[in-house]
This record gives sequence, structure tokens and C-alpha cells, in this order.
Amino acid sequence: MVVLFFAMVCGVYICSICLKQMSQNTKAKFLNIKVVNNDHQNSCPSSAHNNDIVLDQSLHYPQPGTFTREECGCNPVRYFAILSMQRSGSGWFETLLNSHINVSSNGEIFSVRERRMNISSIVKTMDKVYNLDWFTSASKNECSAAVGFKWMLNQGLIQHHKEIVEYFKKKGVSAIFLFRRNLLRRMISVLANSYDKDAKLLNGTHKSHVHSPLEAQILAEYKPKINVTLMMDELNKANETMTRAIEYFKSTRHIVLYYEDVVNNRTKLKDVQEFLKLPYRELESRQIKIHTAPLSKQVENWDDVQKALNGTSFGSYLY
Ligand SMILES: *[C@@H]1O[C@H](CO)[C@@H](O)[C@H](O)[C@H]1NC(C)=O
Ligand SMILES: *[C@@H]1O[C@H](CO)[C@@H](O)[C@H](O)[C@H]1NC(C)=O
Ligand SMILES: *[C@@H]1O[C@H](CO)[C@@H](O)[C@H](O)[C@H]1NC(C)=O
Ligand SMILES: *[C@@H]1O[C@H](CO)[C@@H](O)[C@H](O)[C@H]1NC(C)=O
Ligand SMILES: *[C@@H]1O[C@H](CO)[C@@H](O)[C@H](O)[C@H]1NC(C)=O
Ligand SMILES: *[C@@H]1O[C@H](CO)[C@@H](O)[C@H](O)[C@H]1NC(C)=O
Ligand SMILES: *[C@@H]1O[C@H](CO)[C@@H](O)[C@H](O)[C@H]1NC(C)=O
Repeated sequence: MVVLFFAMVCGVYICSICLKQMSQNTKAKFLNIKVVNNDHQNSCPSSAHNNDIVLDQSLHYPQPGTFTREECGCNPVRYFAILSMQRSGSGWFETLLNSHINVSSNGEIFSVRERRMNISSIVKTMDKVYNLDWFTSASKNECSAAVGFKWMLNQGLIQHHKEIVEYFKKKGVSAIFLFRRNLLRRMISVLANSYDKDAKLLNGTHKSHVHSPLEAQILAEYKPKINVTLMMDELNKANETMTRAIEYFKSTRHIVLYYEDVVNNRTKLKDVQEFLKLPYRELESRQIKIHTAPLSKQVENWDDVQKALNGTSFGSYLY
């Protein structure tokens, strides 16, 4: 009788432990399912990372419609967008990022008008990019750990900022602002680039970015004459646009970089990789800077420019 009773107690005890473990399992499964619903998809057996996924909104496991991610299917992907202005070094910066084997930055996709006509075409385009279904020469496809593109502030970004901020927050897109501190240098680059669109100084072709010192030298020979009245307007406008963009997007996950800082301090590239949580790599670009001479040698009417800027809040651009 005693042995029988003892066996019964043991049985009940073992049963209760079993039940407890089972309920823990279903809890884990439940967590998993929640994650799946958040991401709309997921077949990765990533239960070990459950807590990470719940806490880190910027992790994604996209399932592209056009191919399978194969051995990298269970590597998380981060979404980013480089928010910048023309002639601020973003082309160079993007080639640096794309030299990382796990980064796909797909260029200035919103330079095409139809893609930014209205918010629904913007969202449709971004959905395709972030689902890894967008193909450019930069796409690394299955083993991308970070996917994004370059977006100029005047390509519908400021105009539709409310919806875009909402999208970034919902999808966990990280914003990388890349601006130029010296807006006068930027302006000279804009003027020279727009001059070259017609002049086509390089053997009859127009190039915005160059890969050899000779090409850089030829393009830098052009010295624009700056209309000083328009210059002050332009500088104020550019500064205002930059300030406004940061203000609009301040509630998203973001980082603000300045071209000059990245040029002078390569640890900034480390910051970016940390921001995107990428495995660290040395990044490189074959692009060459076009305007390397002192500013005074790059403008035809330098005296006028100097007089107009000296003593204003833009005075520091002269040096
Ligand atoms: C948005 O723009 C696209 C492409 O330009 C167009 O086909 C579509 O009808 C537009 N949608 C709305 C809601 O206006
Ligand atoms: C980066 O790419 C390599 C090669 O394609 C791949 O083996 C590796 O798993 C990727 N790393 C991440 C973090 O996705
Ligand atoms: C222009 O073309 C000539 C002949 O093809 C070539 O030797 C030269 O390097 C080219 N110059 C540039 C700047 O591409
Ligand atoms: C500068 O541009 C303004 C506005 O377009 C124009 O009225 C003015 O004459 C220009 N000044 C010079 C020196 O070209
Ligand atoms: C370079 O950048 C890093 C990280 O942003 C910063 O900590 C460091 O002080 C910078 N170095 C210089 C010389 O500015
Ligand atoms: C700039 O302005 C200051 C006075 O405000 C003057 O002393 C200086 O010579 C000016 N510099 C140039 C380069 O015009
Ligand atoms: C740029 O604009 C901001 C805000 O409008 C202002 O505080 C700042 O002084 C401006 N910068 C320059 C160099 O004028």
C-alpha cells in the first residue's frame, strides 16, 4: 500500500513538471507567432533570439518574392535610407557603403518622377526595396545585412514627410543624414555640375562623379561666376531645408553625418557600420574628389563672394 501510494505521488509530481514545461513551450511558441505577425512572415527557427526580436524593431527577415535568401535566410536585415542633398558627397558615401559585402544601397531610386508622384507610389517602391525585390548593380541579394537607398530631400521627402516618418517608424527604417557643412563649396559643385551637363567637358560626356585625377582636373578647370544676391538666398534656403529635415525626422532612429567629417575622420565610417549593426569592414571607394583647390581659386568673382559673406553667419564657409 505504502509503495503504491509513493508511486502515485511520484507520478503526479512528474506529471506536473511535464505540464509546466509544456506550458513554457507554448509560451515560447506564442512569442514566436507574435513576432511572425509583426514581420508578416518568418520561417526562421530563431527561437534563441526571441528576446532580441521583440526588443529590436530594426531587425527584419524579409522573404523576397523573386528569389530565396538561401544560406542567409536567417540572417537579420536592417533597413536604412541615406537622406541627403545633391552634391553633398552622398554618391561617394554610397560607394563606400556598397563596398561592404553585406550592404545593398540601391542608389537614387526616387530620381524617377513616377515613383514619387504620390505617397502610395513612394510606399510601393520602398516596400519593394526593403523586401529585397529591387535589383540594381548594388544588390547583394541573399546575404544583405543592410538594405536601403539614397534619397534627396527635394525628391518628395520633405513634401511627404509625415507619411514617410510614419512608414520609417512602423517598418523600423533607420535614417542616415549626410550633409555638407560648407554650403558654399556645395553650391560651387552644383554650379559646376550643372554647367557640365551642357558643356560635357570629358570627351563629350557628362559625369557627376569621376574615377581618375585627370578627369577631376579637367572638371575643376571650370570656375563659376556666382550671382551674390542669389547666393545668399540659396545658402539660407539650403541651411533651412537641412534644419527642417532633421526636425521632421528626429523621432525616427537616425544618425547625422557631415561629409567633411567623413573625409577627415575615417572612424565615422565605423560609427555608420555600428549604427547599422554590420560586421565591421574597411570600406573603400574609387571615386576621386573633383574640387581640391582652395576656394578662392574655384570662383571667378571671389572678391564679391568674400565681401558678401564676410561678417555674416556663413562667414566660416570662406575658410
Ligand atoms: C499615384 O501615382 C501613380 C504613378 O504615377 C499612379 O499610377 C496612381 O494612380 C497614383 N495614385 C493615386 C492614389 O493618386
Ligand atoms: C555577409 O555576407 C557573407 C557572404 O555573402 C555571408 O557569408 C555572411 O553570412 C553575411 N553576414 C551577415 C551578417 O549577413
Ligand atoms: C578622351 O579620349 C581620348 C582618346 O580616346 C583619351 O586618350 C583621353 O584619355 C580621353 N580623356 C578623358 C578625360 O577621358
Ligand atoms: C542676380 O540675379 C538676380 C535675380 O535673378 C538678377 O536680378 C540680378 O541682375 C543678378 N545679378 C547679377 C550681377 O547678375
Ligand atoms: C573621429 O570620430 C570619432 C567617432 O565619431 C570621434 O570619437 C573622434 O573624436 C574623431 N576624431 C577626430 C580627430 O576628430
Ligand atoms: C571682414 O570684415 C572685417 C570687419 O568686419 C574686416 O576687418 C576684414 O578685413 C574683412 N575681411 C575680408 C577678407 O574682407
Ligand atoms: C541655419 O539655420 C538655423 C535654423 O534656422 C540657424 O540656427 C543657423 O544659425 C543657420 N546657420 C547658418 C550658418 O546661418
